[in-house]
Amino acid sequence: MKESQSWRRLEEHSREMAGRHMRDLFAADPHRFERFSLKVGDIFLDYSKNRITQETLDLLFALLRESEVEQWRERMFRGEKINFTERRAVLHTALRQQTDEPVYVDGHDVIPDIRAVLDRMEDFCNRVRSGEWTGYTGMRITDVVNLGIGGSDLGPKTVTEALKPYAHESIRTHFVSNIDATHIAETLKLLDPATTLFIVASKSFTTEETMTNANTARRWFLEHGGAEADISRHFVAVSTNTEAVRAFGIDTGNMFEFWDWVGGRYSVWSAIGLPVALSVGMDRFRAFLRGGWEMDRHFRTASPEHNMPMILAMIGIWYNNFCGAETHAVMPYDQYLRYLPMHLQQVDMESNGKRITRDGTQVEWHTGPVIWGEAGANGQHSFYQLLHQGTHLISADFILPMQSHNPIGNHHDRLVANCIAQTEALVLGRTADEVRKDMLASGCGEDEIAALLPHKVFPGNFPTNSLLIDKLTPESLGALIALYEHKVFVQGIVWRVNSFDQWGVELGKHLTGRIEAEIARGEPVTSHGQSTNGLINYYLGHRRS
Ligand code: F6P
Repeated sequence: MKESQSWRRLEEHSREMAGRHMRDLFAADPHRFERFSLKVGDIFLDYSKNRITQETLDLLFALLRESEVEQWRERMFRGEKINFTERRAVLHTALRQQTDEPVYVDGHDVIPDIRAVLDRMEDFCNRVRSGEWTGYTGMRITDVVNLGIGGSDLGPKTVTEALKPYAHESIRTHFVSNIDATHIAETLKLLDPATTLFIVASKSFTTEETMTNANTARRWFLEHGGAEADISRHFVAVSTNTEAVRAFGIDTGNMFEFWDWVGGRYSVWSAIGLPVALSVGMDRFRAFLRGGWEMDRHFRTASPEHNMPMILAMIGIWYNNFCGAETHAVMPYDQYLRYLPMHLQQVDMESNGKRITRDGTQVEWHTGPVIWGEAGANGQHSFYQLLHQGTHLISADFILPMQSHNPIGNHHDRLVANCIAQTEALVLGRTADEVRKDMLASGCGEDEIAALLPHKVFPGNFPTNSLLIDKLTPESLGALIALYEHKVFVQGIVWRVNSFDQWGVELGKHLTGRIEAEIARGEPVTSHGQSTNGLINYYLGHRRS
């Protein structure tokens, strides 16, 4: 790829662009904001505050076309097994498809299966939400606890939190993921087994963290008044693995199925979204799916130059591969979106944190960046210092709803002002001349100016995308998450990696199993390297007080 015409032109172009400041790019083009912005559904994207010109975009789109992104996109939507290392189709888009157009996997149309599970979810949610489904004492369910990790936790947790304004007023939702007992212990302290419903959410139904928590929850339930016969009213499962669900002791009549062609980090659109649906109701869950589908339609039909996921993806590639950036930040200026950076960490880094191409050779270019972030305005008072005056080039997405669900006083106007001010400060910076003028105006003497001026200069020219959302609703949230999924897809195709496997998590799981067995034996170990032996033996010597 590095030998391709478009890659080489982009490398040359990055050298040409290196000395150019966005201040000058804006000054040279009074229509830059209109030129470099677009609206799709409820999402308005301003990408004018990037170190790009029309030429940059033309070159990036040439690379996209050369990488056959549009052809790969069709393969994905059609159900081809593009996750070739696991021999699986990649069809989270089918989960939110709003038409009856068949989508085939191995000659079988999956759309009727998806609809059947949605209908079962609807029936179940209606019964729980109305109080018709009761616990073993006849009381209604007041608490839902999702036991899952990774995609079986982050997606539904992010969406449930984001849609909290729509939540059922007497059902609380909790998410327990960590194998650290503290997570489940602190959650169980809040709960009454007679009114608690556990969802054991695991695609594989073998994940150690989830199964350990599920066993602890079951024991707690039985020790606090529940009986074996009551388990079916208090434990349901979401999985692809019927046998393992049955073996765990959950009635498969209370199992909501999904399929191997749904990747864990893309599974919130499947029955893994059950806690979302229980919280906000099935109509809103369906609206969330509709929002995702609207973004799918846009992604599938718009030309690259007008395609929001493609634009974001290619700008990301520009910084990652041609400008030396290594991380990308996501800053939602909405407290309800505070888990979004975590969810996107998995969507992006588990998908594109790869070093082997589709041909099995090692990449010669950087792949997925480090994704991180924090809800605004909190980040402003911790790490933004490094964005403004540090030495790293960091690109960032600022996500901001226009209407607040909590219009109290002038909070929202102030939040908006903070968000926009940050993007302005990042792009413009503050020159030495400007600092000097300000200091003189506030009465500083020459000595003080000489001492402080360099510390008060901001280089600016830091890139941001602003994503303005009319209002955070199920539809707009669906569109937003689908936007990021497709961005990640496009980047993975350009980087020539398989975005849909995750072999990188296997080694840690394997070694954990071995060390667990050694810890269970309790004898000093000598079978590892000296540091690992030392750590295990230190633990064995200190674990009991
Ligand atoms: O960490 C690896 C992983 O397989 C993720 O991809 C997945 O989301 C998570 O574990 C949970 O897996 P499961 O849903 O099978 O429990």
